[in-house]
Amino acid sequence: MTKAPAPSEIDWQNLGFNYMDLPYRFLAHYKDGQWDDGKLTEDATLHISEGSTALHYGQADFEGLKAYRTKNGDIQLFRPDRNAARMQKSCERLLMPPFPTDKFVAAVKSVVKANADYVPPYGTGGTLYLRPLMIGVGENIGVHPAPEYLFTVFAMPVGAYYKGGVKPTNFTTSYYDRAAPHGTGQSKVGGNYGGSLLPGSEAHKAGYSDVIYLDPATHTKIEEAGSANFFGITKNNEFVTPKSNSILPSITKYSLLYLAEHNLGMKAIEGDVFINDLDRFTEAGAMGTAAVIAPIGGIEYQDQLHVFYSETEVGPVTQKLYDTLTGIQFGDVKAPEGWIQ
Ligand code: COI
Repeated sequence: MTKAPAPSEIDWQNLGFNYMDLPYRFLAHYKDGQWDDGKLTEDATLHISEGSTALHYGQADFEGLKAYRTKNGDIQLFRPDRNAARMQKSCERLLMPPFPTDKFVAAVKSVVKANADYVPPYGTGGTLYLRPLMIGVGENIGVHPAPEYLFTVFAMPVGAYYKGGVKPTNFTTSYYDRAAPHGTGQSKVGGNYGGSLLPGSEAHKAGYSDVIYLDPATHTKIEEAGSANFFGITKNNEFVTPKSNSILPSITKYSLLYLAEHNLGMKAIEGDVFINDLDRFTEAGAMGTAAVIAPIGGIEYQDQLHVFYSETEVGPVTQKLYDTLTGIQFGDVKAPEGWIQ
């Protein structure tokens, strides 16, 4: 493996979203009906059976969360208990053994502490991205749940997920669906993302940041971007985001629904967002842990580009939402009770 450069050699301002092999990760093993205590390890490779269900049948789920460096040099986590709970839901869907919330949060904290020098300095915009991952392993060939599981948490410093960062970029709709109406769209499982590689690559080749998927049943409503959820701002001071059983319940989305209402005095709505009715929005964006808030310049649909606020400038409400959310995450704005650890 290529080891991460020393922290002193990292260009914190220009990180992008790339894998780095940091010194430590956490690894726990489930066998004979129970999780072991797990431990920090320096080995970035996993040694697993060729019969592992994760490899053949996609019995794998994951999470994404971040550690933030505050102005006084402390390090904080944003709602890690929510990631633990969401992973437990994903595990339920794939018949995997849930990893308990207290152990999940403790594992995340141990990885942050062990790699603390890799949490980017305050003011660079960088964060330490944490990737909890669970896979079905052990000897198997039939389509059955695995006999054993691995749970790992690894980390790397990251910057902007989309190339534009907080500058607007354009997205496109696609012929492909991300998830079936009663499928696994609500779960953070590997297969959802594997299926998005081809549509994503076609979108990138055509010059778009990502795909805006439409609802699989009727192709009339926006669902999400695959790597992030969608929001629109109306001229009536509403924050609107799609409600659907086949989109990923983004922790950033639920946080912004709360902040739009309580901090910005907006009406927060989860409801239908028809692709033929984009005129109702004065601004739009993608939101997620990796994406944070990425303003959407325009969305391409049936060969027409619908521009929201601007293809080059961030809208004022999007900017306020961004400042409020990241202010809380970096410790500059008072957080609602229980959001920060
Ligand atoms: C996240 O926002 O953390 C995600 O997991 C999305 C993506 C990088 C797949």
